[in-house]
Amino acid sequence: MARKIAYSGVQPSGGLTIGNYLGAVSNFTKLENDYDCLFNVANMHAITVEQDPAELRRKNIETLAIFLAAGLSPEKSILFIQSDCPEHAELCWVLNSVTYMGELGRMTQFKDKSKKNEDNLNSALFTYPVLMAADILLYNTNLVPVGDDQRQHIEITRDIAIRFNNRYGETFVVPEALYSKEGARIMSLQNPDQKMSKSDEDENATIRMLDEPNVIIKKVKRAVTDSLAEINYSDEQAGLKNLFNIYGAFTGEKPEEIANRYSGQGYGVLKNDLGEVIVESLSPIRETYNKLMSDIPYLEKVAREGAEKASKIASKTIDKVYRKVGFR
Ligand code: AMP
Ligand code: TRP
Repeated sequence: MARKIAYSGVQPSGGLTIGNYLGAVSNFTKLENDYDCLFNVANMHAITVEQDPAELRRKNIETLAIFLAAGLSPEKSILFIQSDCPEHAELCWVLNSVTYMGELGRMTQFKDKSKKNEDNLNSALFTYPVLMAADILLYNTNLVPVGDDQRQHIEITRDIAIRFNNRYGETFVVPEALYSKEGARIMSLQNPDQKMSKSDEDENATIRMLDEPNVIIKKVKRAVTDSLAEINYSDEQAGLKNLFNIYGAFTGEKPEEIANRYSGQGYGVLKNDLGEVIVESLSPIRETYNKLMSDIPYLEKVAREGAEKASKIASKTIDKVYRKVGFR
């Protein structure tokens, strides 16, 4: 029986955070052995907010290097940069014709991002979920490992696939999402009501996958908690709860059990230990990343070969879709 297909993307819009790692990238590596996987650097998504071209060019390859450093293998998975495969834009256009303004207007990410980018309210920000649907549907994807913030985008992808199939006949596989248990929604260390985001202006709000150990330790120490001075795992202590979720996502333990273990102790002890847990998990990734970045031609080769493999699959889907809609 053919293996199932998993697909996901990460925008190269800044240094990847432990939110990206625990919510998405660390799950990618777990799927590699059982699924035919494709993972891409979603740079076409990134330009929905303003990017510096030179910086974006650098981040394309850096993000690919992070994939490899986190343990993904170009022998097992297809790793590529989105803009290297023109099929993503081609399918996006066709899918735009079966997507309604009303459903795009309901996307909370669009509403949030348009508030933050009032001076650059471009139409790509609005149609972004259609591009994401194109990414996923191009490869007959069964499973999409993502963080919780992508829930609506997966739903609309499913709706678009079903609608297209109804109108033009069976064409697309309708995909399912895969969310990690503890890591699906890592919150900001400075404002535990907000998700941790790559683009947060407050550096203390995020821990980045490539942060140096002393920086990680410092940021964990500065994480906002509360003045109750009592260890619990509860919604009322959102900052603390987030720290336990991060702890559990890194070690595989249940956050409630970790909280029990620290019961009666001060927040400082917990923060010290958590800092060490994070450093221990991320140090090998940072070291491998630094090695990989000293061989850019190798990374470019991985990207080139990945794009060739991806395009081979994607062009078949485009051919099928173009026939269905009457272009061919
Ligand atoms: P992005 O940075 O928006 O490209 O996100 C890449 C992947 O990381 C997506 O699957 C997101 O859902 C996931 N992700 C981003 N931020 C978080 C977070 N704070 N917690 C968990 N997952 C996240
Ligand atoms: N939109 C996703 C995010 O911001 C990134 C992404 C782009 C993606 N294309 C995708 C995720 C396809 C899963 C599948 O996090």
